[in-house]
Amino acid sequence: AAPLRLGIAGLGTVGTGLVQIIQTHGDLMTARAGRGVTISAVSARSRDKDRGIDLSAYDWEDDAVALAQRDDIDVFVELMGGSDGPAKDATEAAIAAGKDVVTANKALLALHGQALSVAAEEAGRLIRFEAAVAGGIPVIKALTEGLAGNEITRVMGVMNGTCNYILTRMENAGLTYQQAFDEADGLGYLEADPNLDVGGIDAGHKLALLAAIAFGTQVDFDAVELEGIGAITIEDITQAADMGYKIKLLGVAQMTGRGLEQRMSPCLVPDTSPLGQLQGGTNMVVLEGDAVGQIVLRGAGAGSGPTASAVMADIIDIARGLRLPTFGQPAKGLRAARAARAAVP
Ligand code: NAP
Ligand code: HSE
Repeated sequence: AAPLRLGIAGLGTVGTGLVQIIQTHGDLMTARAGRGVTISAVSARSRDKDRGIDLSAYDWEDDAVALAQRDDIDVFVELMGGSDGPAKDATEAAIAAGKDVVTANKALLALHGQALSVAAEEAGRLIRFEAAVAGGIPVIKALTEGLAGNEITRVMGVMNGTCNYILTRMENAGLTYQQAFDEADGLGYLEADPNLDVGGIDAGHKLALLAAIAFGTQVDFDAVELEGIGAITIEDITQAADMGYKIKLLGVAQMTGRGLEQRMSPCLVPDTSPLGQLQGGTNMVVLEGDAVGQIVLRGAGAGSGPTASAVMADIIDIARGLRLPTFGQPAKGLRAARAARAAVP
């Protein structure tokens, strides 16, 4: 089969990690996908920046929208970030130009995912976003494929590596908030706007996406009850430890009699529990289904290699011809199912 041709917009932490995977594991990826995966063109803000990778074999586009519309790409890979601006414009342009889209951008999808998925569905295209939730952990595949036979009853977890890193470094090493924050920055965990991390907003975006997939609802970030870690002090952490607890920024989504409940807030968890033991930038997602019971997934939630690993998995799925809809269920079908449920007295 003809190779799958990529256009990659964004060559930062995740974009360079993706290029490295493709350059070092090309043969392996071809074997797994059943066809080659090649890069036609790339884009970022600065053409001159030394990124530590060889980009000489690829065309350069200054404009991500122009990249998204190129005739020589099949998949537009959006790794720029931002809920609006070039990421949204280029994603919309890609869909309109008949391209599939792979993105790691939870902010974009938490705010515009519903509209984008309907547009993609109407155009017969895909938007895949495994990397947007819990970085390297294949949690979206677990929900849409591995647990497809279940009614999901609850989704919860620690989904922001920066916050978990800061909290555990304050606990274990007695670092100040600022010292721990600076270390997380050095590891490439932070969003371009770090308030998205420490304010709980980034984790709330991820929870809203997972909840929509798990419960077949529309993405509703505005309904997430949010509280970040900015007000947590060393004294809070010490007092919690004295009582046998850790403080974690924990997200919970579950269906209640009042509808879907989504909360992302600092919580006390027993320090001997799997969540209490979670260290550094690691994420943990707990999925509960009526048939399977509880599944716990743990792994790197951020960083170049782990996030690029998830982006690559989506690309390989597309190369293999897997055409699951964006949120695991057709957006139009979901609307019809919800309307039917609402009509039942
Ligand atoms: P990053 O290191 O800041 O890289 C962003 C890249 O996008 C840079 O190459 C930048 O160009 C380019 N860019 C930014 N604005 C642009 C614009 N207006 N036009 C063209 N290019 C533009 O970000 P990142 O950490 O790789 O994150 C990328 C995406 O992945 C974000 O949506 C983020 O939320 C998501 N994500 C990141 C992680 C992680 O661990 N870092 C994990 C999961 C998901 P220059 O290099 O020239 O400045
Ligand atoms: N800033 C995010 C985090 C990156 O710290 O978890 C991964 O989504």
